[in-house]
Amino acid sequence: MEAEPCGEAPLAHGNPAVLAEIGAGLLARRPHISPKYLYDTLGSRLFEAICELDEYYPTRTEAAIFAQHGEAIAACVGQGVSLIDLGAGNCAKAASLFPLLQPQQYVPLDISVDFLSAAVAGLQQRFPAIAMTPLGVDFSAGFQLPEHVHPQRRVFFYPGSSIGNFSPPQAVALLRNLRDNLGADGGLLIGIDLVKQSSVLDAAYNDALGVTAAFNLNLLRHVNRLAGANFELRQWQHCAYFDEAASRIEMHLQAQCDVSVRWQGGERQFARGERIHTEDSYKYTRSGFRQLLGSAGFEEVQCWTDTSCWFAVLYARAVNR
Ligand code: AVI
Repeated sequence: MEAEPCGEAPLAHGNPAVLAEIGAGLLARRPHISPKYLYDTLGSRLFEAICELDEYYPTRTEAAIFAQHGEAIAACVGQGVSLIDLGAGNCAKAASLFPLLQPQQYVPLDISVDFLSAAVAGLQQRFPAIAMTPLGVDFSAGFQLPEHVHPQRRVFFYPGSSIGNFSPPQAVALLRNLRDNLGADGGLLIGIDLVKQSSVLDAAYNDALGVTAAFNLNLLRHVNRLAGANFELRQWQHCAYFDEAASRIEMHLQAQCDVSVRWQGGERQFARGERIHTEDSYKYTRSGFRQLLGSAGFEEVQCWTDTSCWFAVLYARAVNR
């Protein structure tokens, strides 16, 4: 599927594929809703707020790595590339690298199209020399970059450890799809969250202000809109914990009483205590992630971490096939 130009919302209300996906997840033996539905406009804003929280270390740790090693990273990636920003959001992370990387083209991709368009409008004024083409894409579904993205020196930028929101096999499939969109001179600049003590991880997904809880619950609001569902947010509670064996944070919504939910084309009763699984966030070891990259046709060139080794930024090059 070729990526859509900005303006066509991939998650539009009443979309049959979206309805089918949400319905199938809700009717499953272990009910689940894809984490991509966390990101409507309010969800994207709540995620921005999460990134400001004391407990949520990934954003500031990654930012510190970019601040400390920015020049080395730019030397490794090279200047004048086409920088393709996956899940760009407010585009702030990529923008902070523009002075060092000086990309000739910037292609931010995001599922939340309205949010992205507003961010790019402001950015284009600050950096008029960089050609900017926002694309509304659900890149988890597989995509092909349009021809107006220069075929040479394409570099995917995937910060924030968002790769952790895919299971390892899904992550390999996604990275392979990225590899297929790169020529022999392409690369990947990616941030990953590393395994650490579970108390730090549990706190990061259970902040005292309840912002992560609001972010999780907002998914039900979004699903109400997308699928004509009648979730009552007060009947559900945020629940998140680190599963050490699976090396992932699991995020769920737990019914606080017996609940009956209807949506366009389906209904289900949830008993008190029953959960809907909404997100996984995998934490990697460096060697584990190196292996994952290898299975997807990439080879690590360099890796930068913070002093506590909580987070890593890697540059990987596409392996010639
Ligand atoms: C976007 N992603 C990397 C975040 C994470 O940490 O997995 C999403 C998130 N979920 C709860 N808090 C943040």
